[in-house]
Amino acid sequence: MSTTVLVTVPTGKVGRRLVPLLARRGVTVRTASRSPLPERAGIVPVRFDWTDESTYETARKGVAAMYLATGPVPRPEYAGYIRALLDGAGVEQVVLLSTYGVDQAPPENPLRQIELAVESSGVPYTILRPPAFMQNFSEGLRWDESLVKGIRERDEIAHPGGDGVVSYVSTEDIAAVAAAALTEDGHGYEAYAPMGPEPLTLTQVAEHISWVAGRRIRYVEIDRTPMRDALLAAGAPPETAEANSRLHFHAFSSGVMGVLNDDVLDVTGRPPVSFAEFAVGAAAAWRRY
Ligand SMILES: NC(=O)c1ccc[n+]([C@@H]2O[C@H](COP(=O)([O-])OP(=O)(O)OC[C@H]3O[C@@H](n4cnc5c(N)ncnc54)[C@H](OP(=O)(O)O)[C@@H]3O)[C@@H](O)[C@H]2O)c1
Repeated sequence: MSTTVLVTVPTGKVGRRLVPLLARRGVTVRTASRSPLPERAGIVPVRFDWTDESTYETARKGVAAMYLATGPVPRPEYAGYIRALLDGAGVEQVVLLSTYGVDQAPPENPLRQIELAVESSGVPYTILRPPAFMQNFSEGLRWDESLVKGIRERDEIAHPGGDGVVSYVSTEDIAAVAAAALTEDGHGYEAYAPMGPEPLTLTQVAEHISWVAGRRIRYVEIDRTPMRDALLAAGAPPETAEANSRLHFHAFSSGVMGVLNDDVLDVTGRPPVSFAEFAVGAAAAWRRY
């Protein structure tokens, strides 16, 4: 019988790329989502909702490792959900998708609370702290499609950031790091920050997208208000929407996410995908039909 790995949020931008990578490694993948996905060879779907603890036992029973992602809307309750899922689960390895810089946040920060819930669980863990995803420009955020729609419909990237740089990373690379950490030895009690290969301003991002879209896409600087309002509309508590939109603004405008490292190369054996390579594969998202 093959090992079973649980993948939460298998419909997310990382999760949907992780599932086939795990299947190729010969493990049985249990996909845990709010609407169970269709069954396929080696992939066993179960119904799972972070907000409904009655769905946890079916999801965790008998799995050797877990990939944990919390969905796009930050909520303080997630630390408690993670503790409840891991309590008594008997898994050998957990991989958590977190966010760049969360290790520097104070312990009361909801995103740091999630990390602390994993770190104090007694289960060997790997924490992934990527910066912003390249796929935000092509697939949007579940709670807010404005970025990809703005490019497709108005030829503009409207986003906070100004001249700040970010080493945008492809979710393919994050999924590859996660697949290795879930199935290979040597990743317990480690943290990785999978970064893309080059720090880019949003004007440079717009140039890459213009090139494959075949028309000029321009960068338009905005403040943090639209993000705060989108988070509120998606159900985030007001103080979380306020704090996260401030953090988001700082993260994009300060250059703090513009660092480089070898984490993708070291873990996967290949360098990270460049924005130009990503853009060629994502061109359909920006086409006007
Ligand atoms: N986007 C970025 O640039 C970025 C950067 C660093 C870290 N992250 C982290 O990556 C994670 C995903 O962020 P994302 O914005 O890119 O979103 P995403 O991967 O598009 O994920 C959205 C998914 O969340 C699932 N979901 C929502 N509520 C759920 C619930 N109650 N129970 C189970 N699943 C639920 C949805 O599944 P269904 O609708 O199919 O049920 C949907 O597939 C977040 O934790 C975020 O902090 C994101």
